[in-house]
Amino acid sequence: MENVPVLIVGAGPAGLAMAACLTHLSIPYVIVERDDCSASLWRNRAYDRLKLHLAKEFCELPHMSYPTDAPTYIPKAMFVKYLNDYTMRFNIQPKYLTCVESSTYDNDKKCWSIVARDMAEGKTINFVAKFLVVASGENSAENIPVIPGLDNFPGEAIHSSRYKSGKSFSGKSVLVIGSGNSGMEIAYDLATHGVNTSIVIRSPIHVMTKEVIRLGMTLAHHLPLNLVDNLLVMAAKFIFGDLSRHGITMPKMGPMILKTKTGRSAVIDVGTVGLIKKGIIQVKGSISKIIGNIVKFQSGDEISFDAIVFATGYKSTTNMWLKNGESMLNDNGLPSNDYPNHWKGENRLYCAGLARRGLAGIAMDAKNIANDIKSKFEFPWFAST
Ligand SMILES: Cc1cc2nc3c(=O)[nH]c(=O)nc-3n(C[C@H](O)[C@H](O)[C@H](O)COP(=O)(O)OP(=O)(O)OC[C@H]3O[C@@H](n4cnc5c(N)ncnc54)[C@H](O)[C@@H]3O)c2cc1C
Ligand SMILES: *[C@@H]1O[C@H](CO)[C@@H](O)[C@H](O)[C@H]1NC(C)=O
Repeated sequence: MENVPVLIVGAGPAGLAMAACLTHLSIPYVIVERDDCSASLWRNRAYDRLKLHLAKEFCELPHMSYPTDAPTYIPKAMFVKYLNDYTMRFNIQPKYLTCVESSTYDNDKKCWSIVARDMAEGKTINFVAKFLVVASGENSAENIPVIPGLDNFPGEAIHSSRYKSGKSFSGKSVLVIGSGNSGMEIAYDLATHGVNTSIVIRSPIHVMTKEVIRLGMTLAHHLPLNLVDNLLVMAAKFIFGDLSRHGITMPKMGPMILKTKTGRSAVIDVGTVGLIKKGIIQVKGSISKIIGNIVKFQSGDEISFDAIVFATGYKSTTNMWLKNGESMLNDNGLPSNDYPNHWKGENRLYCAGLARRGLAGIAMDAKNIANDIKSKFEFPWFAST
């Protein structure tokens, strides 16, 4: 049994930011991570050509800036280096290969009681914590839709988190399912590696350039969101033209308001739209079923593919291990309260990085949570237990 003042679950960017903010306020903590490294999403589950989608000023963690000569859009390897430097700077030492399996609030002892599995030794570790911070991410498990016939598809069918590069698919026909940032970028990557690429775009999306989004995020500090949205939509129409005849329609809500209300981000074009317009990437609608290697679309089209990439997002798995967290998280394991009141539950329970607001949201959550813990922290509470 280990008594800890604060337990942080997860050592991705949110867990690391949380650890740094606590250190900054001289509050001791323990951080656990199920993988054998920090930020495994970025090290092991991201494609090669990934850069941060947002400009660097919106992607900093608390108390440490990017080097001044860093490019505006940070490449994956540089972001991983930043996280390594961050971990060193704040002397963060996660307990790796430690997977939290359950957390319950003990009403008598007024503490969180946490059971974790030490995956190296195969044994159980029990923690008792006064404060519990959920930093296990929105991207904890792959989300793959149910499609009749998928199980018998003879080709490779992978989730975007396992996709590295189009190189290995060269000369083949590949279907990308999902039109968020990952799907659109993976389609581009495939097409530029000589892959016959199709992409399923089912729902309306906002397509923007990264510069337009950067401008929008900057203007949003000074102007009402609906005004900013009108400007962004005008800019997008000017830059891309009417994309509806290519199968891409715009949502009714503007991009900034949509992000605030639903968490859905605009897609930042990396060149995909140009290839769609040229007919190099084919846009498809909903799938009805798969028979062998033939994909049947609701439009009636039947096309054979060698491989499928599911860029269909992720789901939170917090509800599988967190008990008594109902005041903070809904049935999907995401905050029940709207931003900016989403990060705090009852009984000194918190969540960092679950509000679909990227790294800027993570930085804000970590600062808010650390300050709240500071205001309740009686040093040394653990000496008396
Ligand atoms: C492809 C991609 C690109 C993105 N690009 C940007 C961008 O440009 N800008 C931006 O602001 N945001 C971006 N995001 C969104 C977000 O910033 C990242 O997803 C970020 O990594 C989230 O950090 P996190 O710490 O909340 O979650 P994660 O990085 O997922 O970290 C959570 C950690 O918790 C661990 N964990 C989970 N369950 C348990 C458990 N039970 N016990 C122990 N450990 C556990 C996981 O192994 C993981 O290491 C992107 C996301 C993706 C997927
Ligand atoms: C490329 O894919 C399309 C379907 O999206 C198909 O009609 C076409 O025949 C394919 N071309 C080649 C060379 O395989």
